[in-house]
Amino acid sequence: MTDNNFNPSVEEWYYPDENVRATSNAPDYDATYTKAMGDIESFWAERARSLEWFEPWDKVLDRSGAPFFKWFVGGKTNIAYNALDRHVKTWRKNKLALIFEGEPGDKQTYSYWRLNQEVNKFANVLRSMGVKKGDRVTIYMGRIPEIMIAMLACAKVGAVHSVIYGGFSEQAIADRVEDAQSRVLITCDGAWLRGNIVPLKETVDKAIAKSPIVETVIVVKRTNQPVNMEQGRDYWYHDLMTLPIASPRFETQVMDAEDPLFILYTSGTTGKPKGILHTHGGYSVYISTTLSWVFDLKDEDRWWCAADPGWITGHSYIVYGPLILGATGFMYEGAPTFPYPNRWWKLVEDYGITVLYTAPTAIRGLMRFGEAWPNRHDLSSLRLLGSVGEPINPEAWKWYHRVIGKEKCPIMDTWWQTETGGFMITPLPSTALKPGSATRPFPGIDIDVVNEAGESVPPGTDGNLVIKQPWPGMLRTVYGDPDRYVRQYWNTYAKQGWYVTGDSARKDKDGYVWIIGRNDDVIKVSGYRLGTAEIESGLVSHPAVAEAAAVGIPDEVRGNIIYAYCILRSDYSASEALIEELKEHIRHQIGPIAVPSKLEIVPSLPKTRSGKIMRRVIRARAMGMPEGDISTLEE
Ligand code: PRX
Repeated sequence: MTDNNFNPSVEEWYYPDENVRATSNAPDYDATYTKAMGDIESFWAERARSLEWFEPWDKVLDRSGAPFFKWFVGGKTNIAYNALDRHVKTWRKNKLALIFEGEPGDKQTYSYWRLNQEVNKFANVLRSMGVKKGDRVTIYMGRIPEIMIAMLACAKVGAVHSVIYGGFSEQAIADRVEDAQSRVLITCDGAWLRGNIVPLKETVDKAIAKSPIVETVIVVKRTNQPVNMEQGRDYWYHDLMTLPIASPRFETQVMDAEDPLFILYTSGTTGKPKGILHTHGGYSVYISTTLSWVFDLKDEDRWWCAADPGWITGHSYIVYGPLILGATGFMYEGAPTFPYPNRWWKLVEDYGITVLYTAPTAIRGLMRFGEAWPNRHDLSSLRLLGSVGEPINPEAWKWYHRVIGKEKCPIMDTWWQTETGGFMITPLPSTALKPGSATRPFPGIDIDVVNEAGESVPPGTDGNLVIKQPWPGMLRTVYGDPDRYVRQYWNTYAKQGWYVTGDSARKDKDGYVWIIGRNDDVIKVSGYRLGTAEIESGLVSHPAVAEAAAVGIPDEVRGNIIYAYCILRSDYSASEALIEELKEHIRHQIGPIAVPSKLEIVPSLPKTRSGKIMRRVIRARAMGMPEGDISTLEE
């Protein structure tokens, strides 16, 4: 599907301040890009040398098993060693790693020293519970410091974490736990959101009833309501952390560069989410380089990536990237509008945030409340802004630039994916910007816009966005399903050996890339990635539904919203109550983010002669537009 909610003909340039250009961490773009493309292995090897390795690599890139590429082969490292251990040996042990504010207003800070100690204690707890190198640990938590501690402790032990976003439901957790075969789960009693408690532990209990493979549940006390604690299975985090076994000394596990660090499930074109697998070595190099050059983090910065740690943005740019760079990060637990729509702007002022990274949907959502809310606050600490998750429409870009950035902060519109690990198409602080374009590829990244035959399309023409060379932050496989990895990402341009992104894009005459949106059956709702097939199979799992079709419809704030159409089984009849029941069913199958804005019961669905649902026709009809060519239509 395409989200054509911006106007690529808008080609106003915004030039960065001379000062930004002169002081940024990033080298000159043109020269670096050209040099990197001349020899990508030397380029990435040089970047890798800014990290610490227990043993150096023998080979930078092994293409022999393509598309199963390997980076820094033979190198020994651990991402947590670079994120924590090496910093506590320097003056940085006294520096703040994390500043936290909870939705109710409670505050906490962690120096690198304290964070490392907490991580070590928890790593000892995990190990004492039998968690070993390679074991999968599921994490289902709110946005609190302990989620970082849990992830980093897994990394130190050498376990593979699978973080599930706190907005997912019991069925989604059960499926992911099952797929990862994870025996240990870390959660909270609840999370604060809009003044209410999201009952995470209760959802976990329901999930485990469906997927009993979980043997141990560790529960962080956050919201304090009574929860069910099953004897012999459930343990309070704060109890475990006071046991003698929870020593603050822990020998970080030596890992192979290619050993897995985490699995992160994301939606694709089938009903079953894919476990995207990332590793210790290449991923560390990629995210630290991209974060340093794009967001220019310096020791005096206060960096706020407002995403959730449960998404790739949080993994790469809340947890691992900033810590590798020794930066100070800020984390806020709750809703941007709680208790008033000035909450975010108040946080920027209270904590002196210098770099803010968020999503277009959040900007559009806050824009609706008007300028008076941000204008009550002193936002002059901000020097750089960022955007991710979907195309940013020029109207939102300009508001962000003018009202939040006071026309002095360049906006880094970063295009990337769960699969890419880090930013792929992005400005650097010195790049001349055009609102709505993610500008050009990061040095070392070889992208193109091509037609079905694999030929580059001329400027101004839509095509498939492909990546022509491997990069260190790339996914290594789909967990447990290597065939799907090959089929999904490498089969479209198998002859050329290119990675297909699933996005349509166009380049303009200056080589700037304009992302149009997904061209597969993936919908972006408020920046969240959902598969139409996932929603459809959720609906069909209800006994009343014989067939279902879901489509994405453009929406001013959320980017897209979901419309769903269901054909009922013959012994059911349509009613308002049934529609509500089906929506509730999706809430439990996937989560609140997947609940269709509109759900209609229909007698039939348009299909091709081969029986494929014609989403294009359904979508056109839902939007009240002409239905186009329906000559192949059967029903
Ligand atoms: O369609 C693109 C869109 O988000 C997709 C990746 O989604 P996900 O794996 O959830 O990762 C989101 C955070 C990295 C892409 O295929 N997308 C992401 N960033 C942008 C974007 N579309 C346009 N502009 C962006 N800056």
